[in-house]
Amino acid sequence: MPQIDSLRALSPATVLVADDEPAARKLLRRILEPAGYRVTEAATGREALALAEAERPDLLILDITMPEIDGIDICRRIKSDPATHLTPVIHITGLTTREQRLRALAAGSDEFVGKPFDIEELLVRVRSLLRTKRLTDHLVSIEAVVVALARTVEARDNYTEKHLRRVADRSVEVARRMGMSDREVEGVRLGGLLHDLGKIAVPDSVLLKPGSLDRTEFALVRKHPEAGAEIVRPLRAFDGPEPAVLHHHEHFDGTGYPYGLRGEAIPLAARVVAVADAFDAMTTDRPYRAALAPAVAFQRLEDGRGEQWDPDAVDSFLIAYAGSSEAQEVAEGL
Ligand SMILES: [Fe+2]
Repeated sequence: MPQIDSLRALSPATVLVADDEPAARKLLRRILEPAGYRVTEAATGREALALAEAERPDLLILDITMPEIDGIDICRRIKSDPATHLTPVIHITGLTTREQRLRALAAGSDEFVGKPFDIEELLVRVRSLLRTKRLTDHLVSIEAVVVALARTVEARDNYTEKHLRRVADRSVEVARRMGMSDREVEGVRLGGLLHDLGKIAVPDSVLLKPGSLDRTEFALVRKHPEAGAEIVRPLRAFDGPEPAVLHHHEHFDGTGYPYGLRGEAIPLAARVVAVADAFDAMTTDRPYRAALAPAVAFQRLEDGRGEQWDPDAVDSFLIAYAGSSEAQEVAEGL
């Protein structure tokens, strides 16, 4: 796949033009091809969706009024499919009502260009959206590589990928409940996925040892947050998981590691991930003990409130997961 991706980066960007009027498609082709873009055409909404799925164009230019499925519905479907949701969409608007424009915006439309086109304006918008798309594609592939690496590390530790997903999902839920912004929540999500990446630096003989660790071995394990932070530091471009990775073993009362930070000196993202990680570790079989029942783990979180963990993060976690029906779902997910 990396080879295909790099070939794709070298090839001209593909623009899918969907309009039921042949003359309009022809005009757009005449504008876009001399500017170096590859153009594919769709005459109906259904055709546009099929092509969007089969060819994965880099950008869509959609007429709003089309038979069967209109340009706004196409946009909504493209933006709600994880495989295509980052593909930019420009709507061509003729006699568009305010209501249609609002619907298009709600469906995720990136730009509007009025008919008749200002050719220069259209090309500037196309270029700018494609530049952002290339950057996003690049970041998404970096994230995929790092998450694959994190999965490998977890597999060594006899955890499964599900552990990473559960920690990330529950951390996101707690972060939202605590009022963190979308940007901060994204840092928490990545931090949840990558928190133990630094275990790559801990030898198997230590990581998988069933008995208790001696001083030297324990010192090696305690290096994993810093080792992980070193690896994720360059990922700052998509709002860094670094605080959660570096500080997820700090304790609220200052007795944790690596720096013995206390209370709110510990980044909030790390306080949130610490609760979700601890709960998942407690309710999973480990080499040195069997899994605890969820009810016992909830009680341990409650007992460690304000000592090991941030009391607000514990409260938000318990509200989200220790309610009767949700506790059942957590138990079933284990
Ligand atoms: Fe850890």
